Parts: sequence; C-alpha cells; structure tokens
Amino acid sequence: MSPFDATKFDATPEPQKVQGMFDRISGSYDRLNDIMTAGLHHRWRELAVMVAQVGPGGSALDVCCGTGDLAFALKRAVGPEGRVVGLDFSADMLQVAREKCGHNQLYVEFMQGDVLALPFESGAAAGPAQGAEDASAPPAGFDACTVGFGIRNVPDIVQAFSEMRRVCRPGGKVVCLEITQPTIPVFREFYALWFRRAVPVLGRLAARDDSAYTYLPASVLRFPPPEELKGLMEQAGLRNVRYEILAGGIIALHHGVV
Ligand SMILES: C[S@@+](CC[C@H](N)C(=O)[O-])C[C@H]1O[C@@H](n2cnc3c(N)ncnc32)[C@H](O)[C@@H]1O
Repeated sequence: MSPFDATKFDATPEPQKVQGMFDRISGSYDRLNDIMTAGLHHRWRELAVMVAQVGPGGSALDVCCGTGDLAFALKRAVGPEGRVVGLDFSADMLQVAREKCGHNQLYVEFMQGDVLALPFESGAAAGPAQGAEDASAPPAGFDACTVGFGIRNVPDIVQAFSEMRRVCRPGGKVVCLEITQPTIPVFREFYALWFRRAVPVLGRLAARDDSAYTYLPASVLRFPPPEELKGLMEQAGLRNVRYEILAGGIIALHHGVV
C-alpha cells in the first residue's frame, strides 16, 4: 500500500489509537492547522461561536477541544464573567491548551474526559447548580456545547451528540464544526487530490507523523455527508437542526436546539 493513499488507510476511530495519535502531534497541531487552512480556521471558529449564541456572562462547554482555539473563541464571547470548559481525552493536547491561557490572557478550564461520557450533570432540570444554596446561583447546564473538527474522531456520533445535548440547559445550542467533502465537480477533484496527496506529505514534513496525516483525509472520506450528519443530530434528540456550508463546500457548520 502506498503510504499516501488515504482511501486504503483504516480510519476507524479506535479511541486508544486516536488518543495516542493526538498526543504525538500535539506540538505541531496548531502550526499545521494554520498552514492547511491558510489561517481561515479562526474565522470558521468565530462563526461557530456566533451560532452558539453565547453572550457575556454565559457558559459553554467545548468538547474534543484539542489545543483550545474554539474554547478561547467562546471565552472571548462570554467575557470575564462567563465560564468556558474545554474537554479532551488527550493529555498532551490539553497541555498545549493550558499553556495558551497565559499567552491569550483568557482563562478557560481545561479538563481530561471522554465526550461519550461527559462528567457533568444533566442540564434538563435547569434549576440552581448542585450544592448552590441560593436561587441566584447559575443554573445547571451549559448555554452551549460545541465540537470543532472532533466528531469525526469518535466511534459513536449519536452518543456524542446525546451527551452534548444532555449537559446543556433546555433551549441551549449544540454546535458542530467539521470538514466535509465539496460537491462542486472540479473543486471536488482538486480537494480530493489536496487531501489525499498533499496533506499526508505536509504531515510528514511538519509533524513528522505519517499515520496521523494519512488518517486525517481517510477520516474525512468516511465521515457522513452534511444531510446525514443532520439526521444523526436529530436522532440524538436535538431540535431545529440546521447547517451552513462554508469555504466553498469544505466546511459544514451544524447547529441544533436542546
Ligand atoms: C482534530 S482535533 C480538534 C481539536 C480542536 N477542537 C480544534 O478545533 O482544533 C480532535 C480532538 O478530539 C479529541 N478526541 C477524539 N475523541 C475524543 C473523545 N472520545 N473524547 C474526548 N476527546 C476526543 C482528540 O484528542 C483531539 O484533540
């Protein structure tokens, strides 16, 4: 098998392998994101924050947070009075995220955990937080739960969205930013070439990790198209699920109401 043929690479997301892979590439992840998207990923994250509809004093959970860029964008929206938690199962990605708190001058709580079993109370009974004595305490449940370029890596997408929905308050938002395959013919071919050939080479050069950046295009190729993903979010109990296609068809931004 050619090392660059992503179609022949096994992209089944086995949690331990995925975790180990992100631990290995944590040091070069941000640099490669900037190179591969020409810095546009920051703009896409801002749009995700917009549809999450969090404002000053609000609360948000970013799952599969990696090195924290989406969590930091949420923190800018909720301000100093608001609360943002970033959760990931890769200790090394979280370490990079924590180091960025100082540099960004933004405080985000980063914690290790699995999106398939979130360590938070259910937001359904949106009363005062557990242990809170007075009714003015913030309600249980996040205003929004987001995932950026992470859902592709989990073995049970419906379970992940169910957990994201569970920890939000009623009326809260669940938002998913993910890579998708363009449908416009010439662009689709160019994109396939870029992803299958160029991305693994970039990964090899910048991250010195063949398998991670061969896994990336393979995981995109086997990921459900936007309409199917919308159906999975509905299966997880989300309402009014909608999506926008960005960047000429390579990014999908899904959002639903809890
Ligand atoms: C491609 S990175 C995305 C990081 C970040 N959200 C971003 O937008 O750049 C995917 C992240 O998902 C995390 N991840 C994958 N499966 C997970 C799981 N079951 N629970 C928690 N984190 C997970 C990985 O450790 C990795 O940091």
